[in-house]
Amino acid sequence: MATKSLSFREVKKKIRIAPSILGADYGDLNHYLQKLEPFSDLFHVDVMDGNFVPNLSIGAMVVNDIKTTIPLDCHLMINHPEEYIESFAKAGAHIITVHAEATRDLKKTIEKIQSFGCLAGVSLNPKTPVSKIEKILPIVDMVLVMSVEPGFGGQSFMPEVVSKIVQIRKAYPELDIEVDGGITHKTAPLCKSAGANIFVAGSYILKADNPKEATEKLRKSVS
Ligand code: DX5
Ligand code: ZN
Repeated sequence: MATKSLSFREVKKKIRIAPSILGADYGDLNHYLQKLEPFSDLFHVDVMDGNFVPNLSIGAMVVNDIKTTIPLDCHLMINHPEEYIESFAKAGAHIITVHAEATRDLKKTIEKIQSFGCLAGVSLNPKTPVSKIEKILPIVDMVLVMSVEPGFGGQSFMPEVVSKIVQIRKAYPELDIEVDGGITHKTAPLCKSAGANIFVAGSYILKADNPKEATEKLRKSVS
């Protein structure tokens, strides 16, 4: 189980690069992650239920077995996420993000995440408008703007979501805004200019010949 670090909570709106571990070698996960640790700010953990999204990945049991010093950013692409918050919190998640489209009582779900000492994120699919989360924004710790339809890595960035980042940043100058899907050294600067500060990258880092160099290139593009 990952150890929660205080310093993680202390820096708001800092630029962070979060490799998405969806494309990792799950047969040798801890060893694989160790190699990414020196240049990663967060590990983005994609949780899929084959229901909210048409793909399956991992659950809290696997998260519990992750041994790393890097904070875990768990992106729950699942229906009824409120039923699984406790198990992800106990498994060592630092940030737990739920989809606005997947839960009936978003406020209760966000409060439940925070009650376990985790940061609470809310995510929007590309077609979901910001108005869907307007009421909840004053209490969330992070917004995750999806820049692809959730479910799979390796898709192309959807530039039409950039205006949502602008909209959220304008209303909440201090909020952490994460962007996820098709992030590269070319698409990340568009999101940075719009106001995003956390950049999830799956294929760009994990499929690179040299993940360290790819991460540095991505970081440079948003610095
Ligand atoms: C997609 C996931 C992403 C995915 C990103 O549903 O939420 O985190 O791993 O992968 P890339 O960066 O390849 O689009
Ligand atoms: Zn994700």
